Amino acid sequence: MRVAVEEGLEGVVAARTRLSGIDGEEGRLWLGGLPVEELAPKACFEETVHLLWNGELPDGAQLDALQGRISGWTLPGGTRSLIVSAVEAGQRPIDVLRLALDSLCLEGAESDVALVGATPVIVAAVSRSRKGKPVIPPDPGLRLAANFLYMMTGRPPTEARARALDTYLNTMVDHGMNASTFTARVITSTRSDLKSAVVGALGALKGPLHGGAPEPALTMLQEIGVPDRAEPFIRTLLERGERLMGFGHREYKARDPRAAVLAQAAEDLCAAEGDTGLLDLACIVEAEAVRLLEEYKPGRRLFANAEFYTAVLLHELGVPPELFSSTFAVSRMAGWIAHCREQEAVGRIFRPQSEYAGREDGAWVDLEERCAVARQG
Ligand code: ACO
Repeated sequence: MRVAVEEGLEGVVAARTRLSGIDGEEGRLWLGGLPVEELAPKACFEETVHLLWNGELPDGAQLDALQGRISGWTLPGGTRSLIVSAVEAGQRPIDVLRLALDSLCLEGAESDVALVGATPVIVAAVSRSRKGKPVIPPDPGLRLAANFLYMMTGRPPTEARARALDTYLNTMVDHGMNASTFTARVITSTRSDLKSAVVGALGALKGPLHGGAPEPALTMLQEIGVPDRAEPFIRTLLERGERLMGFGHREYKARDPRAAVLAQAAEDLCAAEGDTGLLDLACIVEAEAVRLLEEYKPGRRLFANAEFYTAVLLHELGVPPELFSSTFAVSRMAGWIAHCREQEAVGRIFRPQSEYAGREDGAWVDLEERCAVARQG
C-alpha cells in the first residue's frame, strides 16, 4: 500500500508538550506559559530553568537552591584533560563539548542539574584551552550567565553583559519540536539514558540548518561590511541558489519573535557599551534580505530567525564565532532535559514508517559467479 511521505515530517504533530508553544502565522512564542518577550528580558536563566522543569517560577529559596546546585558543579580532572587533548588535536568546539559531556559519570535525578551546570563550564574551558590559557573554575557566588562570561574572560562581567546573556539563554531554551529536541525525545523513547539523549541532540544542533547558523550569519555580516554592499552581496548568494543563514523557519511565516527579543537585547547592550556598528548594519541587512528573499522566493514568507540576531548579540558579548553553537547548547540543554522527562512519562517508543522505494525482483548470485562476470566485463 502506498502512503504519503511527509518529507521532514512537516505538519506532523509528534508530541504534546507544556514547555513551549509556537504560533507560526502570528510569530508568537510562549515559554512555560509566558510570552518570550515577557520572560526573556526579565528572568535570570535559573528562573527560566525552574519554570520549565517545575511549571512555575521559583520563590527566593528555590532560586538560591537551584543556583547553588548549578554553580557548584566542578570539572573532573579527566574531562579537563580530555578537553585540552581534543582542542590540541584540532577538534571543533562543539565536538569537544560532545566528547566532554559523554565522559561525565551521571547519576539519577542529579543528572539534570549536573548537565546544566556542566555545559557552560565545559564551553568556557574549551574557549580558554583554544587560547592556550588556564581553565577558570566557576565562582559559586555567580549566576550561570555571569559565571559563563567570567569563566571565559577571567573577569566578572558588567551587569549589562550578564543581563544580555541571560536574555539570550532564556530566549533559546526551548522551541517546540525542533530537530535537536526531537532527537533527544526519540533517544529517550527507547528508554536509553539522559546523557545519550542530550549528546545525540547536540549532534543535531550543530548542523548549519539548525544551531550552526549564527557563525555563517556573522561571516556574512562581516563580509558585507558596509550598508551599500548588502544588496549586491545578498543578490549574488541568492543567484547562486544559496541559503541566507539566519533567515527562514519551518514554523514561522512571520518574523521569528526571538529575533525581536535578541535584537532588543543587542540594542540595550550596544547602548550600554556605546558601540552600535554591527547592530546598525544587521538591521539594514535584514531589511534588504527580506526584500530580496521575497523577490527570489516569492510567497515563501522568509524572515529573520533567532540565529541572525544571535550572531550579533554573541559577537557583542565577545563570544568567539566558533563557540556560538556551543553557547546555544548552554541554553538548550535545559530544554532538552525537560523534554526528555516529558517523553519518559509518555513511555512509547518513536517508530514511524518508511515507504520502500527499492526493487523487489532481486536474486542471489554466488560470489564465484559475480567474480566471473566481473572478469569478463
Ligand atoms: N535562504 C534562501 N532560501 C531559503 C531559505 C534561506 N534562508 N530558507 C528557505 N529558503 C527557500 C528554500 O530554498 C525553498 O525554496 P524552493 O521552494 O524554491 O525550493 C523554500 O524557501 C522553502 O524552504 P524549505 O527548505 O522547504 O524550508 P524548511 O522549512 O525545510 O527549512 C530552514 C527551514 C532549514 C530553517 C531554512 O529556512 C533554512 O535553511 N534557513 C537557513 C538556515 C538557518 O538560518 N537555520 C536556523 C533556523 S532557527 C534555529 O534552528 C534555532
